[in-house]
Amino acid sequence: MSRLLVCPPDYFSVAYEINPWMRLSNRVNPERARAQWSGLMKVLEEDVGAVLVRMKPAPGLPDMVFTANAGTVCGRRAVPSRFRHPERQREEPYFEAWFRKQGYEVQKLDDDLYFEGAGDLLGFPDSVQGAWFGGYRQRSDIRAYVRLGELFSREIIPLELVDSRFYHLDTCFCPLSGGELLYYPTAFDSYAKTVIAERVGEPFRLVVTETEALRFACNAVCVGKHVVLPAGCPRAMTLLETRGYQPHPVPLDEFMKAGGSAKCLTLALE
Ligand code: ARG
Repeated sequence: MSRLLVCPPDYFSVAYEINPWMRLSNRVNPERARAQWSGLMKVLEEDVGAVLVRMKPAPGLPDMVFTANAGTVCGRRAVPSRFRHPERQREEPYFEAWFRKQGYEVQKLDDDLYFEGAGDLLGFPDSVQGAWFGGYRQRSDIRAYVRLGELFSREIIPLELVDSRFYHLDTCFCPLSGGELLYYPTAFDSYAKTVIAERVGEPFRLVVTETEALRFACNAVCVGKHVVLPAGCPRAMTLLETRGYQPHPVPLDEFMKAGGSAKCLTLALE
């Protein structure tokens, strides 16, 4: 069973610019955003069988819908995010309070380390051991992964992100339950590309085209053999189908105005 933390888009908007996707002039249509978010929830619940845990949104925090950035959860422990941008740092107390209220043992990182949660730290779903991967340079600090690796007794492989359009690891890197990796190699520096190739064998690497990477094809939610991804990525869907996955395309372009899509709108609680 997969439990996902989500936050309704009551206050979602583009109110500042902290990534290249966000433009104040490109206004969010709140009704469309609400309909697209509800469409995603419906697919996750009814087609994928995920259990959704909804948290209360807070006024004045337009990016709080992106719960992938709440922090990272492992068993009963949670590490809340420490955001790079002051605009999003205001979300931190809400996410931390949510983890505490749910009974998680909250472990905080040092104040001088930026870390943006499951947006930047990903492992293969359903794998009880195995390394995790940590994206750094755009948002999270590489040093955060040393600390997190100790905390969780896990190997964390840092991967440098070199393209500001792919500013979180989950915008260009999606580990799948069968060990395949859906990703966009150009978003990584050459060392990260080498490390990925060492860890994920050639037949398991599913490379997304630039066009579809820019439609957030990699920002997908994988639960078992289901993969929920943004609409408009037919080639990624074919790649997934040939590996036995069932893709579920969902229109989410209102959220792309803020630089996010399906995966960013969820946080895996297991
Ligand atoms: N506007 C948000 C930001 O720039 C979008 C976050 C998307 N989340 C993600 N996990 N990629 O922080």
